[in-house]
Amino acid sequence: MVSPLNNVPMRLWLVLSLCVVLVASPIHAEPSASRGKSIYMKANCVGCHKWHGGGGGSYGGVALSLRATALSREALILVIRCGRPATNMPYHYRKAYKDDNRECYGSNSASLGDATPPRAHHFLSDRDVAAVVDYVQSDIQGRGTPSYDDCVAFWGVDARRCKLMAQAESNGEKQ
Ligand code: HEC
Repeated sequence: MVSPLNNVPMRLWLVLSLCVVLVASPIHAEPSASRGKSIYMKANCVGCHKWHGGGGGSYGGVALSLRATALSREALILVIRCGRPATNMPYHYRKAYKDDNRECYGSNSASLGDATPPRAHHFLSDRDVAAVVDYVQSDIQGRGTPSYDDCVAFWGVDARRCKLMAQAESNGEKQ
């Protein structure tokens, strides 16, 4: 006969595994694109490419449009990870161009010199890069002119800028 006491570790184990499931599931349930959106803001893609990804003039020079970009997923990953030499598109991979590291375009800062892209303020892990690319591909790339719905999806329905945008749209103006 198994005494009830012998079941205690088993019960404890069950309770603990339930806790693990409860704690872990929201993290895994979060779609990569929505994590990507917070990275898009945190890593300040938004500062240069704007919330809508349309780019344009910014403190980082003229950032290309991520709405109009024809880059493949691999190319997007490469540009975000390694930046783009001789432009203001920063690299987000911590070890890029450092010392003997030539993972990016087969180059390091010694070989690129002044053409070395600027270092991003926030480095991103490969997982973060993949998440931000998920976001760019699902919400920005190929989306055409930014619309009121895009604005609300980004900032929320109460955002003043979206209300202004709705007014402009109803006046027939283009943003
Ligand atoms: C300091 C400003 C700045 C920041 C911050 C920045 N970018 Fe850029 N980005 C640029 C500029 C400038 C270019 C244009 C480079 C060129 O002329 O080829 C560019 C180009 C790109 C391109 C290439 C587009 C194409 O069609 O060739 C992609 C993709 C891109 N950025 C994504 C991102 C993402 C995602 C982030 C955030 C993780 C980000 N950028 C952060 C300035 C910035």
